[in-house]
Amino acid sequence: VRRFVFLLFGFATLAAAVIAYKGPKSGHADEDAAPIYGVKIPPGYRDWKLISVTQETADFNQLRAQLGNDIAIKAYRDGTRPFPEGSIIVALHWKRVVSDEDNKVLGSVQAFVAGDPVNMQVMVKDSKKYASSGGWGYGDFRDGKPSSLEVHEKCYPCHVPAKASDYVFTHYAP
Ligand code: HEC
Repeated sequence: VRRFVFLLFGFATLAAAVIAYKGPKSGHADEDAAPIYGVKIPPGYRDWKLISVTQETADFNQLRAQLGNDIAIKAYRDGTRPFPEGSIIVALHWKRVVSDEDNKVLGSVQAFVAGDPVNMQVMVKDSKKYASSGGWGYGDFRDGKPSSLEVHEKCYPCHVPAKASDYVFTHYAP
């Protein structure tokens, strides 16, 4: 009986080791998370408050909206910089399309509206976790899936010029 118990124990240890080994190796546990930063699409972001809007002409040809969670919005309204821990800013990017419906009423081709979504971007403030990228974690998503590693390598360097405003470009729209 002793030998059997011993064998059983040995088997359980082996099984535990196999499970522990499989976990990190599979790497599929977090396919919703952006490379480098592990940022995910924040739940409920579509109901967040508006910070501002951007129009990108030329090649981009996009309309964009920046939204903030409650912590970010409060920091914007109070003028708090750097942004407090837990601040999250999302940027929604749409194709900029002509609105025939609006223009018919307006009498000339002047109205552009949000067309199909292109991507969404996320910035999450966690100055410990993201100490090496100015305290922000970055995420870019298309059709709900994170974009490539190459895309994410470009985020922080391009936001460095906005260092004086805590790496954030967007100002609060009056
Ligand atoms: C070519 C430079 C450049 C790159 C690369 C870039 N950004 Fe930005 N980002 C900007 C500029 C400029 C703005 C403000 C204008 C706008 O809204 O497009 C901005 C705005 C933002 C905003 C709104 C908050 C703010 O800072 O104004 C978020 C969120 C954001 N970027 C996330 C990202 C993420 C995530 C990546 C990488 C996947 C990224 N950015 C890559 C230049 C860049």
